[in-house]
Amino acid sequence: MTRFVLAVETSCDDTALALLDFEKENVLAELVSSQDLIHADYDGIVPELAARAHLRNLPVLMSRILVEAGVGPEEVGLVAATRGPGLKGSLLIGYTFARAWAQARRVPFQAVNHLEGHLVSALFDQGLRRFPALALIVSGGHTEIVEMEALGAYRELSSTIDDAAGEAFDKSATLLGFDYPGGARLAALADTLTDSRLSLPKVMANRDEISFSGLKTAIARLVSVHLMSEPQGDSIHAPGGFLRSDVRAQIAHAAQRAIVATLMEKIERFWSRRSYEALYVAGGVAANRHLRACIENRGWPAVFPLHHHCTDNAAMIGLAAILKLKSQYGMSLAGLDEKERTDLSWSQSPDEVVSRWPLDS
Ligand code: KG4
Ligand code: ZN
Repeated sequence: MTRFVLAVETSCDDTALALLDFEKENVLAELVSSQDLIHADYDGIVPELAARAHLRNLPVLMSRILVEAGVGPEEVGLVAATRGPGLKGSLLIGYTFARAWAQARRVPFQAVNHLEGHLVSALFDQGLRRFPALALIVSGGHTEIVEMEALGAYRELSSTIDDAAGEAFDKSATLLGFDYPGGARLAALADTLTDSRLSLPKVMANRDEISFSGLKTAIARLVSVHLMSEPQGDSIHAPGGFLRSDVRAQIAHAAQRAIVATLMEKIERFWSRRSYEALYVAGGVAANRHLRACIENRGWPAVFPLHHHCTDNAAMIGLAAILKLKSQYGMSLAGLDEKERTDLSWSQSPDEVVSRWPLDS
């Protein structure tokens, strides 16, 4: 039986592997090695360090995942890897590793667009595959609103002209003294309050494009107004001074509310233009509880990925490859004839590592 799919995702700083069942479209095992500790000292991802860590991690994770899933290498019938978009060095390491592994074993190889992975990440667990749908991808590197006409037929409606939503969370978190990437910790602090007396301006309202850089400047100003040169009472260290803990929580609350309000306004604009069957939300920020609550309160038929499939993972890359192949070749990997196998392995040039919209992998 060769019905198992090995998927590799290394577009940014997480090394992720997954083993899936082609027919059942479920996950047998998945592993993610986070590099947060490596990059924390630099307040951002250092591409060269990320690529080197992928190179160290991949062989270790590869042996572990086969053992965890109880699958032998000879049972893998398809290898999938992220081709782009992402950090070039990181992509090259994971993509080349996966391709070489596939070629050495004469197994078909399918390149996957990272954003398509995020788009299908909400489709795992339910029979809910309704189209046309609107999709919001909100991660550390991307903020896009996409129209999904069907699986494989996507159109970008809007994207950020500067920072991504996750970046807005992370940069605000850094200003508040959290280690990078502090988005989830800022959100947890914000959720401890039900309201904040501080407010932030709405940025780029009434436009299709998304922007967070103005908000970031407003948050930086708000922080600087409250920065103290010496600690007083219950206070924490933040870049450039000290902040009272209660003020820090208030700013976190205001920042989260403003970022989510920006996203809600943009979804509303596009949702009102056409009748959609579903709203798919994906990417690391899809884990944000306030965003989920606002979307649910609004009553949209929203579908979110499982929590651990919001952030970068290889399961979504495997699922995207499975769905693509099923739509092209039918239901079974064993059904692929020799010519189709060869086409699959050689149709993607290793030079085309970075792909952009429209999705072309
Ligand atoms: O999808 P992802 O793993 O990476 C990219 O493809 O970019 O998303 C990571 C991003 C980070 O910016 C992280 O701070 C943010 O998602 N994030 C959150 C939450 N959990 C992760 N932002 C807000 N609230 C959260 N609960
Ligand atoms: Zn991502």
